[in-house]
Formats: sequence, structure tokens, C-alpha cells
Amino acid sequence: MHFLQCVLMLNFIISDDTLGFIVRGPSGPLVVRLGGSVILPCYVETPLVAEQVKVVWKRTDSETLVHLYQDGESRAEAQQQDYHDRAHFFTDQIQHGNFSLRLDNLRAEDKGVYRCKVYSQKVADKTLVEIKDVERLLVSGSSRSISASVGEDVTLNCSVDSHITPEHIEEVSWKKTDEDEDILVLLFQNNQTLSDSSDERYRDRVEFFTDEIPKGNFSLRLKSVRTEDKGVYMCQVFAGGLSANATADLEQLGFSWLHITVLILCIIAPVSALLLCWLVYSGSENQETRLCLQVCLFLCPFITMLLTSIIWHFIEGSLYETISCCMLYILGPLRLFWVTPLATDLPAKILKYVMTAHADHAAFMAVVYSGK
Ligand SMILES: *[C@@H]1O[C@H](CO)[C@@H](O)[C@H](O)[C@H]1NC(C)=O
Ligand SMILES: *[C@@H]1O[C@H](CO)[C@@H](O)[C@H](O)[C@H]1NC(C)=O
Ligand SMILES: *[C@@H]1O[C@H](CO)[C@@H](O)[C@H](O)[C@H]1NC(C)=O
Ligand SMILES: *[C@@H]1O[C@H](CO)[C@@H](O)[C@H](O)[C@H]1NC(C)=O
Ligand SMILES: *[C@@H]1O[C@H](CO)[C@@H](O)[C@H](O)[C@H]1NC(C)=O
Repeated sequence: MHFLQCVLMLNFIISDDTLGFIVRGPSGPLVVRLGGSVILPCYVETPLVAEQVKVVWKRTDSETLVHLYQDGESRAEAQQQDYHDRAHFFTDQIQHGNFSLRLDNLRAEDKGVYRCKVYSQKVADKTLVEIKDVERLLVSGSSRSISASVGEDVTLNCSVDSHITPEHIEEVSWKKTDEDEDILVLLFQNNQTLSDSSDERYRDRVEFFTDEIPKGNFSLRLKSVRTEDKGVYMCQVFAGGLSANATADLEQLGFSWLHITVLILCIIAPVSALLLCWLVYSGSENQETRLCLQVCLFLCPFITMLLTSIIWHFIEGSLYETISCCMLYILGPLRLFWVTPLATDLPAKILKYVMTAHADHAAFMAVVYSGK
């Protein structure tokens, strides 16, 4: 009798044990990405009877109900409003003993410990899942497009918001995105601004606000803006294996007073040539005055156009174009003085040629100018 009781007892314990189950979770804390999704694992190795299973997902700190599965269905009405659209339970996986929960659109506040408690036939077990870190790398640029006048300085915004501190950011690159190529404007790598790697067009004209970098402000200062600077600039950030970017649009480069000066000089050059020419031919009998006027006629338009070319260089920054134009205007008068001894008393032909040449140059500059 005693023995039989013992056997029954043992039997009872064994059968009770078979009812028991172990709920398993992830092998370690999870690191997730802001705005992304994560599956919080929770499962048993031996499937349970689905109808009798109740699964409760809660945050351990606030006891907020993240998700409830009971009586064969998800109970959306019981869960906290915030998780309505963000918590996804895999109902079809229950038969496989999988009670994992997917959290979407992750936020910084999602960091914390979650408890998955599974009930089945009066027995329960639980596991904890920790979201240790919500990684983020958000880069914001200029919200609106920037307009400036040629010659002005502009700031292109780029702010980094990350779980990584600015001094641990691996790289920040500012590039101008053109149709065919990306032009490197300024590079920040390993705590250093590498000004030398900037494209020639931007060298010595761009800089970061060094004091602002520790705040994650990688805004770019672009000095003495040129017409060719117009376009879209991208600030791309690499940190902790993540990458993000933002853009700033530099558009509507207005004409500056330098442009207007160029235009005026372009008009002055041929007008002065015509005026001087008229004075030379209709003017005084005095030989000295005549000679003086003739010299002016050589030099004035050339000097005007030389000046124009130099100003053009400052606003447009095209060095080779400027050098060739300047050479042309410097060599022009020299060439004339060289031929002068050969042609006594400066034949009218040459004067006429000079005049038309000036007019042509001026017209050329005006065309280039209006085309830009
Ligand atoms: C549970 O289901 C989810 C979604 O289908 C899946 O990603 C996960 O790997 C499953 N877990 C296990 C342990 O089977
Ligand atoms: C750049 O950032 C500053 C400060 O946040 C803001 O005041 C300014 O409007 C921004 N500029 C552009 C073009 O978005
Ligand atoms: C940048 O400098 C900080 C200290 O100023 C240092 O902790 C960090 O490791 C440096 N980062 C790199 C990539 O060298
Ligand atoms: C970044 O720094 C520059 C220069 O001080 C400032 O103009 C700009 O508003 C700053 N941007 C942000 C987003 O704070
Ligand atoms: C910039 O970021 C967007 C997403 O915000 C991404 O689709 C794009 O590929 C990124 N561009 C580069 C050049 O990395």
C-alpha cells in the first residue's frame, strides 16, 4: 500500500513535469537602429497547445503591456495605445512554439527590458529580452534652398544627431553632386579636417566651424561664392558602421556689383575706342594732343578689358580663361607698338583694325557674361 502510494506520487510528479516548459529568449542584449525594426525572440522548444496558450509581453520598468495574446487571439484593446501599430505578434508561429514579437519604428524610449511570459495549463515561464541601445545617425541639412550673391559667404547646414559622440565619428564628407561626378568639397576624417583633399575649385574657400564640431554641427562655410558653385551639396556621415546624409541646395546666385562692373567695363571699352577715334580724326591740329589721343586709343580699351578679365576671375574663378584673356590684352598694345615704326604715322587701316578688334572682344565678353 505504501509502495503504491509512492509510485502514484512519483507518477504525479513526472506528469506534472511534462506539463512544464522552458521559455527561451535571445542569447544577449539587442542593439537596434532608430526607426528600424527588431524581433524580440521568445520561444519554447516543445510546441504547446495553441488554444491554451497565453502570452504576455510587458516592459519590466513600467509594466506597460506591449502585447497580449489570449484565447487564441491578439488583444489589441488591452495593449498600450502606443504599441498598436508598432508591435507585431506572429499568430501563425504559435503552433511552432514561437512567441516572438516584432517592434517596428523603433524609438529611443524603446530601450529597456521586456518580459515575455507564457502561460499554458496553469504553468508559466518567462524570459527577458533587453534592448540595450537604440543606435541613431540622423543628419539634417538645410531645410530650404539658399540664395546668395556672387562674392558673398554662405553657410550650408549639416547637423549630426547620433548615439556616437562627434569625436568618434569616422568621416564627414561634403560633396557637390553634379550630373557626371561628385566633387569633394571638404573632408573630415579621424578628428581632422583634411583641407588638402578638397577639389581645387574649393581649396582655401571652405571650412568647418571648428568650435561647433563637438556639438555635431558640421556646417560648411563657403567663402566668396562663384556662379559655378550653384548646385546641390551633400553632407555624408559615417559612424559606427552606419551612414546617413543630408543635402543643401545652393541656388539663385544673384548678380553682384562686380557683375555690373564687368558689364559697364564691357560697354566702356568699345565706346571709349569709338570716342577716341572720333577725337583723333575730327579733333585738334595740335600734334601733341593728337599723339596723346592715339596712345589713349591703343591703351584704354586694352586696359579696360584687362581689368574686366581680372574681375571676371574673381567672380567666376576660371583661372585659365583669365590668364589667356589677360595675355591677349597685355600683348595687344605691345604688338601695336612693335609694328608702329614700320608704319609711319599709324595708317588708318591699323586703327580701324584695332577698333574692330576691341569691339569684338567686348562683344565676346558680353556674350560670355550673358550666357552664365
Ligand atoms: C519566430 O518567428 C519569427 C517571425 O517569423 C522569426 O523571425 C523567428 O526566427 C522565429 N523564431 C524561432 C525561434 O523560430
Ligand atoms: C541652418 O540652421 C540654422 C540653425 O538651426 C537655421 O536658423 C537656419 O535657418 C538654417 N538654414 C537653412 C538654409 O536651413
Ligand atoms: C577623437 O578624439 C577623441 C578625444 O579628443 C578620442 O577619444 C577619439 O578616439 C578620437 N577619434 C578618432 C577616430 O581618432
Ligand atoms: C552651426 O554653426 C553655425 C556657425 O556658428 C551656425 O550658423 C549654424 O546655425 C549652426 N547650425 C546648427 C544646426 O546649430
Ligand atoms: C543618402 O541617404 C538616402 C536615404 O536617406 C539614401 O537612399 C541614399 O542612397 C544616400 N546617398 C548616398 C550617396 O549615400
